[in-house]
Amino acid sequence: MRSMRRAVLLAILASVVLVLALLHSWPTRAYTTVDAWQRPGQMLERHLEERLPEPDPRLGSIPFHVRDNVASLLARNGCMCEGEAGGVNLPFAQLLFPRVSAHPLHTAFEAPELEEMKRRRAKEYESFQRRSQTAADVVLIAEANNPLQYPTQGVEVRPMKTILIPGLALQILPRDHYSINITATLGTLNVAADVDGVKVGGGGEMHMSLRSSVLQNLNRQLQFVTYTNTQFHPSTADTVHLETEGHQAVFSIRIRHGVTPRLYNTGSQGADYNVSALVTIATKTFLRYDKLRDLIDSVRRYYPTITIVIADDSENPRTVSGPYIEHYIMPFGKGWFAGRNLAVSQVTTKYLLWVDDDFIFTANTKLEKLVDVLERTTLDLVGGAVREATGYTSTYRQTISIEAGGEDGDCLHMRRGYHHVIEGFPNCVVTDGVINFFLARTQKVQQVGFDPRLARVAHLEFFIDGLGSLHVGSCDDVIVSHATKIKLPWVGRSESDKTYARFRYPAASSDAAHTKNGLLFFKNRFQCLTHN
Ligand SMILES: *[C@@H]1O[C@H](CO)[C@@H](O)[C@H](O)[C@H]1NC(C)=O
Ligand SMILES: *[C@@H]1O[C@H](CO)[C@@H](O)[C@H](O)[C@H]1NC(C)=O
Repeated sequence: MRSMRRAVLLAILASVVLVLALLHSWPTRAYTTVDAWQRPGQMLERHLEERLPEPDPRLGSIPFHVRDNVASLLARNGCMCEGEAGGVNLPFAQLLFPRVSAHPLHTAFEAPELEEMKRRRAKEYESFQRRSQTAADVVLIAEANNPLQYPTQGVEVRPMKTILIPGLALQILPRDHYSINITATLGTLNVAADVDGVKVGGGGEMHMSLRSSVLQNLNRQLQFVTYTNTQFHPSTADTVHLETEGHQAVFSIRIRHGVTPRLYNTGSQGADYNVSALVTIATKTFLRYDKLRDLIDSVRRYYPTITIVIADDSENPRTVSGPYIEHYIMPFGKGWFAGRNLAVSQVTTKYLLWVDDDFIFTANTKLEKLVDVLERTTLDLVGGAVREATGYTSTYRQTISIEAGGEDGDCLHMRRGYHHVIEGFPNCVVTDGVINFFLARTQKVQQVGFDPRLARVAHLEFFIDGLGSLHVGSCDDVIVSHATKIKLPWVGRSESDKTYARFRYPAASSDAAHTKNGLLFFKNRFQCLTHN
């Protein structure tokens, strides 16, 4: 009897433990699935495109005259790179009378390889486009005489959060019954308050309908409509359909996180900028220790406590030490952009100043002026000027424009020059690319990055990668001196200068030039380039 009771007790105990264990391991929340595949709303886009109103057939018979000067500005279906013919063939001709030259980029690949490269590039591009487009990029047309009122732009919700949808209303001639349907696809709809005389159907679901016999009450109710994002898929957009008898409208709600700021504490500031607290100097060196030493000494004359970050990929690195100096040694010959990347990655101040290792600071190298430009404008990067030993000063301003092409890729056009002078800074202009001497917001440069595959001749590639995200300026009144560059052939060169030249300035037909064209062709998807 007793053993029987004990067995029952044990059985009860065991089942309680089992149930508890089960309850514990049971998912406390039902997880729904999200479609994060790289095909955001292909269906949806097609659906939206079908909604574009058909052009009125009666308009087709009305004659018109094309304005060539305006029509030629419109993007054609494809682009071309054309150089300028002729010109004088004198020494320095390109310097004095710059002509536009055109270069196809597919020559970076041999014939059998080229077709395969084009195929792979097309595949990667398609995937890139899918990742970078959302429903908020699709054209929506507000149809004429639509009684529905709704927001056309600017409605935004953070992932999994709720907002009131602003601006919803119905303005329609009197009738017995008024109704509105609202449908979303990545979230649910609801009302934050109930209004008398309005029937709400489907609250908390993706499809909600509101009905009333009093228009005023319906419109009051529409002020309380909420949207809750339920599918976690940030940086997308939901397309909300709005419908009343005989009329439809569509608008989009962007789903995205707020931008998390990354701010730099620049210390207390008096009337003047404390350059040491705001700026780090970054440079890359290769073999030229004598030049680097001259640079550091010249910097110290004007900015004794500014930090200098040096990336070094020399074969037999030497020690470069001193206060406020950080020397990073890299594997031999890692290259130009890899070194820039390393140096820039170690900067902890708000701004970084890029200099080449053979520059010399002078009394004209007033970093305060460049800091002032970045502190007071929306620019991300501002270049200065470099004075050659010959006295010639250059800012190397470049505009970069990209013309949309077809399947062959886009056309890249680079020209010397700039877009506008900056108001309040008569020595400064807005442009797209500048010389190797620039002050920039550290974070923006880190975001764009220097492609480490560009090991040798490279500079403007950084600005091409940054086009669209970097806002670039150039001032000609902040000048750094260049120790050497234009080498006269009869002047003897040191052994390290010769090795340097071999790495840094390879022949045009070499692998380095091929790498560069190959990257423009594949990575940036250009077919050709023109420049002057
Ligand atoms: C609103 O949706 C319901 C189904 O939920 C449908 O029966 C009704 O016809 C729709 N009304 C309008 C005006 O489209
Ligand atoms: C400027 O900043 C540096 C580095 O943060 C600091 O050591 C120095 O005291 C500051 N100078 C002034 C005048 O505030």
